Amino acid sequence: MGTDVSRSGKDITTTQPWQALEAHKPILAERHLRELFADNPSRGRELTIDVGDLHIDYSKHRIDAETIELLLSLAREANLEQHRDDMFAGVHINTSEDRAVLHTALRLPADAQLVVDGQDVVHDVHEVLDAMGAFTDKLRSGEWKGHTGKPITDVVNIGIGGSDLGPVMVYGSLRHYVDTDIRCHFVSNVDPADMVAALADLDAEQTLFIVASKTFTTLETLTNAAAAKRWLLDKLGAGEDAVAKHFAAVSTNAEAVSNFGIDPVNMFGFWDWVGGRYSVDSAIGLSVMAAIGKERFAEFLGGFHTVDTHFRTQPLESNAPVLLALIGFWYSNFWDAQSRVVLPYSNDMARFAAYLQQLTMESNGKSVKADGEHVTTDTGEIFWGEPGTNGQHAFYQLLHQGTRLVPADFIGFANPTDDLPTADDTGSMHDLLMSNYFAQTKVLAFGKTADEIRAEGVDEKVVPHKVMPGNRPSTSILASELTPAVIGQLIALYEHQVFVEGTLWGINSFDQWGVELGKTQAKELLGVITDAEAPAQQADSSTDALVRWYRAERGR
Ligand code: F6P
Repeated sequence: MGTDVSRSGKDITTTQPWQALEAHKPILAERHLRELFADNPSRGRELTIDVGDLHIDYSKHRIDAETIELLLSLAREANLEQHRDDMFAGVHINTSEDRAVLHTALRLPADAQLVVDGQDVVHDVHEVLDAMGAFTDKLRSGEWKGHTGKPITDVVNIGIGGSDLGPVMVYGSLRHYVDTDIRCHFVSNVDPADMVAALADLDAEQTLFIVASKTFTTLETLTNAAAAKRWLLDKLGAGEDAVAKHFAAVSTNAEAVSNFGIDPVNMFGFWDWVGGRYSVDSAIGLSVMAAIGKERFAEFLGGFHTVDTHFRTQPLESNAPVLLALIGFWYSNFWDAQSRVVLPYSNDMARFAAYLQQLTMESNGKSVKADGEHVTTDTGEIFWGEPGTNGQHAFYQLLHQGTRLVPADFIGFANPTDDLPTADDTGSMHDLLMSNYFAQTKVLAFGKTADEIRAEGVDEKVVPHKVMPGNRPSTSILASELTPAVIGQLIALYEHQVFVEGTLWGINSFDQWGVELGKTQAKELLGVITDAEAPAQQADSSTDALVRWYRAERGR
């Protein structure tokens, strides 16, 4: 496959649609969502889109038909369709690393066909899935025994970034689909507290570690894996031969896995065309498969594929990830919005915002375009959030009455995985949760005017404090239930938004050079902070003084 030729290289801000959007924005800035809804009473039904099991309402955004038209023209100026097709076909659109970007191939059905760089990708993907299925079947049935002959009760996934955030988020989200007694734990941080806390209640005889690292060079993961190995061998009083029964690996680096002492038979591979933050649907999801089984894992992959197909085939104007990305782009680049808040009204999705932070910010936090030129626009929406209703009692005050524009994505479900009666025994706690979901999107959009507040007899001095300005945008995403397929659909919905925004910004969303320098400097500084004889001089007076302070505290 050739290299990427779909990028136009043009400065998007010099295009006609960009300039038209600049002229259009002040007109919309004058308009309140109350007016937009009054002008078109069916707006709330029209500005919706269904994809897979997801029902998406984007009517509460500061857009009109012209905004969408102009944003779509901008997407066409950026060759979005061609670039999308290139990604799906395996063109090396990750130009700085000369790699294809094919996470979408991880969820292709077994009878699909895709040959990239001479490799039958679908065959390779399903070969690994089959091996994962056979391995997790043995774990789940108890056929797999530890070194002392006991079955596995606890799986510890050791990984960081994309080798942690996806599995931990999906495991939490699919709590109700865990149909085995095996419990999963996740250790990521090089802070020893993470490993110590995870191992506290575990029985080495019945614990299996999955070392998940695409490169198998990541300091945190290798350090934690070595600590886990030491713990295991100490507890078992065994030699290296015990490792084979208690360690599996997920990596693209077979040699390093074998050097660590893990039997290559227990290594599950993936490929350089899967970015770490796009890898939960690769072998990196092994712990999830151990928890929910291979059939449910297939449903999870099916969810991604549904959205992939929609993204690949739907015209831009009825394409959910495209529309949501264009709206995000609209606020980022024309309204100075710095961030987007993601609010799942599902406690099981507690780690969803953290997951999205890596997916979106490691992908689009760039200030140089794919062609090496400096960007001329803001890039990279900052993602953050907490599950509702916790966020309501923390930061929603700023969302409602603060000076910053923070577009919000609300995610909710009709049928809960858990429900309990309300305090008065007459209702459902889930309905209570969802009444908050609907209320918050409504209040953000429509607010409450000073006159409405006065009409309630509120003291004039307090009126300004109680005014709810409204006109604050949100997307509402609803699904019937939080199933394996739905979580796959949600992830793919955001993956493709990242792609669309990255394409409009002209950046390469699939490398992450910005994380490298910190890693190498940490290695250098380790020598300085641990060796009293080493000169503390680090060329800047701040780091120098901090290192001296730390060394003194550590008695060095
Ligand atoms: O933070 C940088 C990064 O390379 C991420 O992109 C990646 O997900 C993470 O480190 C872990 O990398 P690996 O899976 O190779 O250990």
